[in-house]
Amino acid sequence: MKATEAFRLQAQACAVLGSPMYAGLLDRLAEDIEADGPTAMVLWGHEDDTGPSALALRLLGSVHRLVLERRAGALGAFYPSVGGTWELQEGATAFRALLEREPDAVREWLDRAPQTNEVGRAAVLMGGLLNLSEAERLPVRLFEIGSAGGLNLLADRFCYIDDSGTLFGDPFSPVRLEAAWRGERLTPWPELHLNELVGSDLMPLDAGTTEGRLALTAYVWPDQADRLERLRGALSLAQQAPPNVRRQGAADFVNDIELREGTTTVLWHSVMWQYLPHHEQATAAAGIMKLGQRASEGKPFVHLLFEPLRRTPESDHEFLVVMTTWPGGERRILGRAAPHGIPVTWEPANGKSLDPL
Ligand SMILES: C[S@@+](CC[C@H](N)C(=O)[O-])C[C@H]1O[C@@H](n2cnc3c(N)ncnc32)[C@H](O)[C@@H]1O
Repeated sequence: MKATEAFRLQAQACAVLGSPMYAGLLDRLAEDIEADGPTAMVLWGHEDDTGPSALALRLLGSVHRLVLERRAGALGAFYPSVGGTWELQEGATAFRALLEREPDAVREWLDRAPQTNEVGRAAVLMGGLLNLSEAERLPVRLFEIGSAGGLNLLADRFCYIDDSGTLFGDPFSPVRLEAAWRGERLTPWPELHLNELVGSDLMPLDAGTTEGRLALTAYVWPDQADRLERLRGALSLAQQAPPNVRRQGAADFVNDIELREGTTTVLWHSVMWQYLPHHEQATAAAGIMKLGQRASEGKPFVHLLFEPLRRTPESDHEFLVVMTTWPGGERRILGRAAPHGIPVTWEPANGKSLDPL
């Protein structure tokens, strides 16, 4: 795929996902690439890194981080994330001017994979746990693969509000997930606390450092005030109690998990499975099955995931919430959600299962 085509596709995705700023800007940048302008110059040598490498998001993330560091001069006046107001014509001109002025600074982050840690996905995790049966409601040990900055390991410190206005979690939390849940009502579990929270990532981001916070913020789209506010709330919680995220690949991490009597062990992941090479997917899936075989009523094991999947081989991809519980190995689609996590629509139990990942 040519870079211009990749930028235009990303523009459409940004429009659908609620970022008119990036949608308009990417279309202008695609025109600039065609015209051999500053965008083409800065991307020189990366023309073939299109498709899954998300070159457009790498460029946008790199420039956003310069804006957040107040190194982008006049461009900052157009970025809502630092108090500016987006305006397409002048904003795109200022963007191109920055590429011309600071090509080396922009290129520094072009090799870096965009890493978002989407706090809205905590609503999937917590709501998913509220689907556990009475017998499975033991103290929860939570393990996560592909945690990025580990912000969703703080999920039991957030506040969730469903579409009827009912509150769950900490009412005083700096992270408020409004209209987080709709559809089937969830059964409250006031004693639910997450114990022994451990995450893992091949490239963890340390939410306790300036560099980590900068990267986590730079990949959020600057005109998405709700996402930025959620992120800032979670970063403030992470500073008080930094999440424990190991630098470890998913399959190795799964193989290190052990079940413990009197607790429910949960393995959770969101929007990361597609990044695993096939052999690692197979090893991690085998590790999950092994943990399932070791589970018993006194030490249940739960695999909870939020990933783009198809309900049937013929259907389109949706972001589905799927839970498998052992003993028994029952797999259920619990619901579906927007890619950034909220709102989650919980579906009635219909006994339908889904092929394993
Ligand atoms: C799109 S981010 C999602 C982060 C987080 N789960 C969320 O939903 O906010 C995908 C994450 O998977 C991580 N990742 C990619 N390959 C991995 C691997 N082989 N093992 C563990 N983590 C991996 C990336 O570093 C990145 O942090």
